[in-house]
Amino acid sequence: MAADDLESFSLANPPAGFVDDPYPTYARLRAARPVHRLAPGSWLLTRHADVLAAYRHPALSSDKQAEFAPRLGAGSAIYQHHTTSLVFSDPPRHTRVRRLLMGALNQRAIARMEAPLVALVDGLLDRLADQAAPDLIQHFAAEIPVEVIGNLLAMPHAERGPLREWSLAILSALEPAPPPAVLARANAAVDEFCAALRGLVAERRRRPGDPEVDVLTRLIQGHAGNDGDGELTEAELLHNCIFLLNAGHETTTNLIGNGAHALLVHRAQWERLVAESALVGTAVEELLRFESPLQLNNRQAREDVTFSGVTLPAGSYITLGIAAANRDPAVFERPDELDIGREPNRHLAFGQGAHACSGMNVARLEGRLALGALAARYPRLALAGPPERDRRVRFRGFRRLPVQLG
Ligand code: HEM
Repeated sequence: MAADDLESFSLANPPAGFVDDPYPTYARLRAARPVHRLAPGSWLLTRHADVLAAYRHPALSSDKQAEFAPRLGAGSAIYQHHTTSLVFSDPPRHTRVRRLLMGALNQRAIARMEAPLVALVDGLLDRLADQAAPDLIQHFAAEIPVEVIGNLLAMPHAERGPLREWSLAILSALEPAPPPAVLARANAAVDEFCAALRGLVAERRRRPGDPEVDVLTRLIQGHAGNDGDGELTEAELLHNCIFLLNAGHETTTNLIGNGAHALLVHRAQWERLVAESALVGTAVEELLRFESPLQLNNRQAREDVTFSGVTLPAGSYITLGIAAANRDPAVFERPDELDIGREPNRHLAFGQGAHACSGMNVARLEGRLALGALAARYPRLALAGPPERDRRVRFRGFRRLPVQLG
């Protein structure tokens, strides 16, 4: 990209090559235009200090009703879904839903996930050897989170088939400029997902689970079907279940897929993990930093706010550049180098502040178990052809990652 093109850089229409490797562009923005105007009233932050300050800023709102109405169509199913999710809500709704959810995603509930997860990963690694053309996304990474979140909501296995496609369709509507076909698929996915959940909720009402560890029971028991304080409406209940499945699904698939890919193309780091399995904890943090599955978050300023000396007026839309912040040399030594022993590692892959990822310890557990077992079982693993990258700027990952097991 030529120097004067930096000024016109837009996430809705990024230059050729950006999706393959966005980091050089982010580096130039961070150095020359750390508060970059994407469009009238819309700004991108790329410095770690600014992104962190934005996450913690009390005047930055997560409510997306004004922003999404023209883009998604006010009244559409996909609009209702996204604007009812806790991640796109401010207090008091955000506080109510988050409290219920965090209570269920506690350390005890996470510890109970470990044994079934180890067995699941082992089974998938066994079956990988039977595949004529093993694909680390389809046959491994994508299979893990859907089971974990399905188990979390105790969703019957027979109903889990469409989850991945629904999730992809619903999240694709969050791209900066979703075309009509993408929106149509997203609306259909929300309707179908809600229909499946209504049956599940009715069943759980008849036979409640243990509210200490069962998220759905916890959400239902906080739900009394009206707008009363501390309770969830029917729409809040359904849309936050959908959100939980989506939030924990594609991001974690991409942690495992991006992680495996990064390790295989930085072969010395793969060999290091194979030789020293105790590094898996810092390796997962480094992979989250190096190829963040969620590259961007968004806020809207309720009052004037200042970042890197630039004052943005109330009403401004602000994009928080997670991926850019995670390569900021002001915070990370040799930021473009993958170092699986890196410590400390103050990456922002899970966000920060009031909306910090509620499932970060679930994701970390999945990442450690999946990548640790992969390296232990197939130390000679290698890429078997060109990977197929997902072409979105917000969610970074692969659709296919062909490998040979060695
Ligand atoms: C590697 C995997 C994951 C990544 C990179 C990730 C990233 C994020 C980020 C950056 C946010 C903050 C959004 C914002 O501030 O606007 C977030 C929120 C959230 N995540 Fe995750 N996430 C992952 C996995 C999970 C999992 C496994 C779950 C559930 C089991 C989950 C549940 C949530 C929830 C409920 C929120 C909303 C929190 C709130 O608004 O208060 N995430 N995630």
